Amino acid sequence: MIRHPLVEQARAAALSAYAPYSKFSVGCAIESVDGEIVLGANMENACYRLGICAEISALTAARQAFGLDKVARIAVAGGHVGPNGALAGAAPVTPCGGCRQAIYEAADLSGLDIEVISSNGDGTEAIATTIRQLLPHGFGPASLADAGD
Ligand code: THU
Repeated sequence: MIRHPLVEQARAAALSAYAPYSKFSVGCAIESVDGEIVLGANMENACYRLGICAEISALTAARQAFGLDKVARIAVAGGHVGPNGALAGAAPVTPCGGCRQAIYEAADLSGLDIEVISSNGDGTEAIATTIRQLLPHGFGPASLADAGD
């Protein structure tokens, strides 16, 4: 089994999740076209609906570090923190619908079809896709071309 370095960074980032309610920790690692990497994790809230996903957390970091138009590749991993302190879980975690929309925004800005690697918590299984596969016929900045003045 070959472990993808970006997936390993997403798995490590999940350990900094704040997920006391769902107890489902998600990490996200974003790589720029120049190889720079930023991280994010989900952050929940006592007012449940205010929680944010790992992907949104990482996208805001990407915006600060290099800009949304430079996002090339995204790895996501989720599960629970196991007894050995590492992220664990069998099922690969793909971005939720809202996060797909946010990733689509970045892809539309750059014209790049951003790679999305969805890993299980164990880091033993991953699904390699692109945002255009995950969100076909998406609505993005380019869709506003016919807006008025
Ligand atoms: N979660 C993410 O961070 N990313 C996703 O793409 C799926 C779900 C988080 C939100 C919530 O804190 C927890 O996982 C359970 O839904």
